[in-house]
Amino acid sequence: MPGDTITQNTAEPVPERSKAAALAPIRIAPPGAEDAAEVHALIAACPPLDTNSLYANLIQCTHFARTCAVARINGRVVGWISGHLPPGRDDTFFLWQVAVHPDARGLGLAKLMLADILARPEQAKVRQMETSITRENDASWGLFRGLARWLGAPLRDAPWFDRDRHLAGRHPSEFLVTIGPFRAPPGNV
Ligand SMILES: CC(C)(COP(=O)(O)OP(=O)(O)OC[C@H]1O[C@@H](n2cnc3c(N)ncnc32)[C@H](O)[C@@H]1OP(=O)(O)O)[C@@H](O)C(=O)NCCC(=O)NCCS
Repeated sequence: MPGDTITQNTAEPVPERSKAAALAPIRIAPPGAEDAAEVHALIAACPPLDTNSLYANLIQCTHFARTCAVARINGRVVGWISGHLPPGRDDTFFLWQVAVHPDARGLGLAKLMLADILARPEQAKVRQMETSITRENDASWGLFRGLARWLGAPLRDAPWFDRDRHLAGRHPSEFLVTIGPFRAPPGNV
């Protein structure tokens, strides 16, 4: 059921460090306030992600819970997606951050979490997704190109938040990445 998914891992090859995790079921669900501190720690363990305040994560875990997801293995939070529907644009899911703990990478958790979010009734009208990526983040580009293939939709990018104009010279420029249009996420993840 969307929003409370238990996924038994497949026998696909996974990196050595993930083999123990692959034996346990993955549980994916919308977050609650009690998850925020663990989510905050996970983001801190996943450079180059910026941490936000714990209070910001608490707001995501409450007001924006239906467009966010946590993934747990053996009860421990190992994956996180935060996102929202931009005001007035209920056809677009904006993915803010995706984080998978180094111990749980290579299991396809990001795609499983996104599939869970897109399958919820609140996202019934979503036909495209957006995110922003810096040019340097190879893992992120690899992930979103894979997601575009999975969704069967084109990916395009354009300059968005500029290092000097918007980010006070302190952070590399962010490119707005759009994947879509797509009809509905494929059933097979
Ligand atoms: C990005 C991240 C969430 C990917 O998680 P993951 O578990 O490693 O991803 P998966 O193993 O499921 O791989 C998903 C896809 O990304 C690709 N990918 C993953 N790491 C990659 C890397 N370092 N370089 C290039 N591609 C990479 C995989 O090849 C795969 O592609 P496919 O779908 O075509 O097979 C994880 O590496 C992470 O948390 N990184 C730190 C935080 C971050 O940069 N988040 C993104 C910005 S918001």
